[in-house]
Amino acid sequence: MPYVEDFKQIIEEQLARVQRIKEGGDATDFSAKDKIVIGIVGGDGIGPVIMQSVREILQKLLAEEIASGKIQLRRIEGLTLENRIAKMETVPQDVLEAIKECDLLLKGPTTTPGKGDNLPNIESANVKLRRELDLFANVRPVAIPEKNIDWIFYRENTEGEYALGSRGVNIGDEISVDFKVTTDVGTIRLARAAYEYAKNNGNKNVSIVTKANIMKKTDGKFLKLCYDVAKDYPQINTDDWYVDIMAANLINDQINSRFNVFILPNLYGDIITDEAAQMQGGVGTAGSANIGNKYAMFEAIHGSAPRMVEEGIKDYANPASINRASVMMLRHMGLASKAEKLERALDVAASELDMPGDGTGNTAEEFTQFVLERI
Ligand code: IPM
Ligand code: MG
Repeated sequence: MPYVEDFKQIIEEQLARVQRIKEGGDATDFSAKDKIVIGIVGGDGIGPVIMQSVREILQKLLAEEIASGKIQLRRIEGLTLENRIAKMETVPQDVLEAIKECDLLLKGPTTTPGKGDNLPNIESANVKLRRELDLFANVRPVAIPEKNIDWIFYRENTEGEYALGSRGVNIGDEISVDFKVTTDVGTIRLARAAYEYAKNNGNKNVSIVTKANIMKKTDGKFLKLCYDVAKDYPQINTDDWYVDIMAANLINDQINSRFNVFILPNLYGDIITDEAAQMQGGVGTAGSANIGNKYAMFEAIHGSAPRMVEEGIKDYANPASINRASVMMLRHMGLASKAEKLERALDVAASELDMPGDGTGNTAEEFTQFVLERI
């Protein structure tokens, strides 16, 4: 039975990963670093357009730090679909090495070929980078002030359905099996990050989202371990919900403002955060932080929008999401006042500019100029 061998190898790899997590170092203290290198990775589709915006804005915002050599913005080339296909690597080795020489990354969206695209089947670059850099927490804030909604999602980012997403097996033509992996160390470090955030930001409620009634082993473990971590935070209310009813709760205006911090396994986090971002004004409006102990990567929550490129309207791409991600990066580096300055300018841009994404309204360049004038 060849499948038994495959399965054995998968289990051994996962056990080795658990070991690596256990041996991993503590979180980087950016205030103690003499020099911080921020890699700017263009990506596909509208990626170069929105990355140009965030780069210009950071150049102005961090002018002093850049001049003194404390911060370096470094362009990382080659994470494009063409180059990845040419080399037949999810993230080409030289690109990965260049990325690992940075401390932080701002990354444009990368295209993943899907079935029917007539392209080689290469894995998502995003998923590979999250795994390679061990970026275990995907943090996504969503705020809708007029509804009193202030949410932050802590999505597990390296495990669940994504740990072995491209490693499922076909048993002949008749059966297909994919894997979902949940580990103790992987869950506890995510839950701890979410509760620490809740504690440090005065949030009273943490909601755990699973489907533990069906996914009994993986989600069952996730739920139990989150409640174990909750015991260290008695001042915070913890509740738990199944993901289906949580999808409904988010759009239930009777109760949605009661939620604060969410903890979710990977795939549910993927789905629920798109729903939440859409409520805030579209997936183009939310930023996303992928946090690990050594590295952190900040990106737009949306994809590369190949449709906008095909229709010749990529210059109308909205750089709001990647700039929101940049705000999160500034906070992660301890530059809170710069983060606030940028955030305020983005709020004004959101209310005064019109960027529906259909080739009408304001361009990315106009957005950038608008923000540059306000920081
Ligand atoms: C996200 C995206 C990614 C994901 C894709 C691009 C692989 O949807 O960041 O939410 O599924 O995690
Ligand atoms: Mg998603």
